Amino acid sequence: MPFIDLKAQYAALKPRIDARIQQVLDHGQYIMGPEVGELEQRLAAYTGSKHCVTVASGTEALLIALMALDFRAGDEVITTAFTFAATAEVIVLLGGKPVFVDIEPDTCNIDVRQVEAAITPRTKAIMPVSLYGQVADMAELNAIADRHGVAVIEDAAQSFGATYQGRKSCALSTIGCTSFFPSKPLGCYGDGGALFTDDDAIAQAAREIRVHGQSARYTHTRVGVGGRMDTLQCAIVLAKLERFDWEIERRLEIGERYQQLLAAVPGVRRLAVRDDRDCVWAQFTIFVDDRKAVQAGLQAAGIPTAVHYPKPLHHQPAYAHHGQPDDCPQSIRAAGQVLSLPMSADLSQADQQRVVQTLADVLAHQRAAA
Ligand SMILES: Cc1ncc(COP(=O)(O)O)c(C=O)c1O
Repeated sequence: MPFIDLKAQYAALKPRIDARIQQVLDHGQYIMGPEVGELEQRLAAYTGSKHCVTVASGTEALLIALMALDFRAGDEVITTAFTFAATAEVIVLLGGKPVFVDIEPDTCNIDVRQVEAAITPRTKAIMPVSLYGQVADMAELNAIADRHGVAVIEDAAQSFGATYQGRKSCALSTIGCTSFFPSKPLGCYGDGGALFTDDDAIAQAAREIRVHGQSARYTHTRVGVGGRMDTLQCAIVLAKLERFDWEIERRLEIGERYQQLLAAVPGVRRLAVRDDRDCVWAQFTIFVDDRKAVQAGLQAAGIPTAVHYPKPLHHQPAYAHHGQPDDCPQSIRAAGQVLSLPMSADLSQADQQRVVQTLADVLAHQRAAA
């Protein structure tokens, strides 16, 4: 059983994907070809954002978002330590400081009650992470940001397609950034990403920054990066959009079935999904004790698992000086307990039942041996 079934997805979409790739090979505009603008229009409409700017990766989207806000060395961004490194990496790369606040223990998203106290005169933005595919409490974060005149950048790398109070992830704040890494809810076949905004000036800045700060050919108005998403990757995402609504429905359904089946399994604690939003389960993640043994038991039965993430960022050598070891206790606890199970739109009911049954057996065996 694969952890994420990209082969089944390709088999289902093969004629469309192959035709889209062939079209690019035929016209030969590999950089900034027509598929780039086509995808940007489709994704802006999908999310309900005024602008979509495709970029080279989710990391690049976060970097360009900060640059478009005129982020300077010494500026601070409030974010969570329980995330993939890219979230904090871009802040540090630009000479800024990530200010880590803790997560809610049940959703693993930023604890908004801790955010306001972390704001200083150097705060430029709040960067919540829509972890596992569930958006954080954006209404409250936007309200705090408004009170203090700072921006909100949603790290929506894992949540493309998710909804919050009836609106789509990526269109909920100053800027939304997503990733098209192959395993993400909407993935390409390499690296890709996009940022979304309703702000014309930010969109214009992002478009310039992704092509070395050019406002016109060889007119470098600002410092930028080589941050484009290539035409072939855009063509692949366009093909995948054809059944994306179906995939999101399946993800919600499979996630809900996992949650129901796991409710009856002693030793499993489930992630909470708030009433006013859904979770597209980029990762289907649970909490268990003695994770290593659980992983080994599942692996022995041919069921792959993963850990997102084994350490909070303030316990990583590159970021340790941005906090004290005891900071963010809920992030530390979650990092010791989270376990991600196989998940994709093509996961069969039989395979899903086998995962849950095997997990229940492994945990029962552990209890009997204790
Ligand atoms: C929360 C989060 N932020 C940022 C990224 C970076 O995205 P990419 O791998 O496309 O650069 C990822 C992807 O792994 C992620 O999960």
